[in-house]
Amino acid sequence: MVKTAILVSGGGTNLQAIIDAHARGDIKNCELAAVISSKPDAYALTRAELAGISTYVIDRKQYADSTGFSADIHKLLTKLDIELVALAGFMYVLDAPLVNAFENRIINIHPALIPAFCGVGFYGLRVHERVLEYGVKITGATAHFCTAGADEGPIILQQSVEVREDDTPQSLQRRVMEEAEWHILPRAISLYCERRLEVEGRRVRIRGEL
Ligand code: GRF
Repeated sequence: MVKTAILVSGGGTNLQAIIDAHARGDIKNCELAAVISSKPDAYALTRAELAGISTYVIDRKQYADSTGFSADIHKLLTKLDIELVALAGFMYVLDAPLVNAFENRIINIHPALIPAFCGVGFYGLRVHERVLEYGVKITGATAHFCTAGADEGPIILQQSVEVREDDTPQSLQRRVMEEAEWHILPRAISLYCERRLEVEGRRVRIRGEL
């Protein structure tokens, strides 16, 4: 079983999708060993407790900069003997030492089709605001491995979502979560835990049928 930690910052709908997929048997060979929150009052912590998963808080507000924050997350992951990390609505970029130590072992979900609408400053509702401003007809979500640059790592899975004439940033955010994020993040975790991902440079090859 792959010992997996989920990092969260907010409501935890992506975490819930992971918990539900795991309970249905759709995430194979995976132990959901820890949920680590950057906020002490994140509802994601309650979701984890209800599912019987150990919870930890590393409060970003207690740190002057990201160096100490990332280092403490790193220490906790090491102490818990975590192999795989999934960022599920986690609102911070992790520092290079942690990302490099966990090369191809941290999976992030981004609410757009990378390399569009991604990188520094593209998070939360802002992504969907920019998508609507630009006028693209198709957006979606991307599950990818993390590297030191924001949203730059090898892509594991993508799922497209249609942009509608009457979309608001909020309606689009919701549909991207429902139709894309909640499906491809649990799927990417399972593919990793089943040892079906092979990274060659920027390309992630998936063994077997999807
Ligand atoms: C949303 O902004 C979503 O687009 C992004 O994470 C947020 C959802 O957070 N990827 P959560 O999973 O409900 O905490």
